[in-house]
Amino acid sequence: MDIVPPPARVRKDFLSILDLSHAELGQLLDSAAAMKAERALGTRAPTAGALAGMHVALLFEKPSLRTRSTFEVAIRELGGDTLHLPAEFAEGQREPLEDVARNLERWVRALVIRTYSQSKAATLASAAPRLHVINALSDEEHPCQALADVLTLRERLGSLRGRTLAYIGDGNNVATSLAQAAVMLGMVVHVGSPENYSLPPDVVEGIAAVTPPGAGLKLFTDPVEAVAGVDAVYTDVWTSMGQERESDKRRRIFAEYQVNADLMGFASPQAIFMHCLPAHRGEEVSAEVFESPSSVVFDQAENRLHTQKALLRHLLA
Ligand code: CP
Repeated sequence: MDIVPPPARVRKDFLSILDLSHAELGQLLDSAAAMKAERALGTRAPTAGALAGMHVALLFEKPSLRTRSTFEVAIRELGGDTLHLPAEFAEGQREPLEDVARNLERWVRALVIRTYSQSKAATLASAAPRLHVINALSDEEHPCQALADVLTLRERLGSLRGRTLAYIGDGNNVATSLAQAAVMLGMVVHVGSPENYSLPPDVVEGIAAVTPPGAGLKLFTDPVEAVAGVDAVYTDVWTSMGQERESDKRRRIFAEYQVNADLMGFASPQAIFMHCLPAHRGEEVSAEVFESPSSVVFDQAENRLHTQKALLRHLLA
């Protein structure tokens, strides 16, 4: 009797960078780079019809400029169409979240959701076996941002193996997904945060489980030690969406962690500056560093489009 090979694993959802294998992450970046190069072809691009006839629902419980715009453009450039859902449908008040997902899977191929809790995205994903759920930011993770960040790093630094990235500031959702992706691609990631504001212990454990030889994660409380000699310095706002009541306290706690010219002076002379945006000049980053030639923040914003096109094609097409 012939041995029938197991079916190729089909990835349904993208809730976390850790949903990807190391090889898939590399392939997604290769695909995003190719789609970026082909964009000038417009409707003649080989992927212009990849989502033809498909609808993708967008549901955002929090504000967004970059993520919402780039998903909308990405879906349209791949030949698909969008359905905008009011945020109230994610509250689960009118009907259970599971029922929302089981309705949506009858109409649309995917749901892009920005929400508070990662578990809400997971509930929607597990309730509807035909609905692809994409995490467009939760309180815990921001994996779509991390795809754009590592593409930008690859464009600027070439191979990422053995290169060093420092993330300075709050060990938040952006830091989590960035550290996961960068370590999976072979980088050494330094996270410099005040005590009690570093990456959560379960995130550190999860990263340890996917760390290839030569890569790694190191936690610091001294920002100068964290940036010493690194190839890239990344920061994010000190107060994330939903934490506004803590903003005065956080401004005091994070004051020593501003990325300014003095701190950049401890990094490699060629180090790039990164930020997921929106940025608060004068808080987590000085205006001087934000506007300096080393700043690649708008490359990161552009790469949101190319990496999300690659992701949509990978999951749906
Ligand atoms: N970086 C980012 O996610 O931007 P938005 O909040 O504007 O989507």
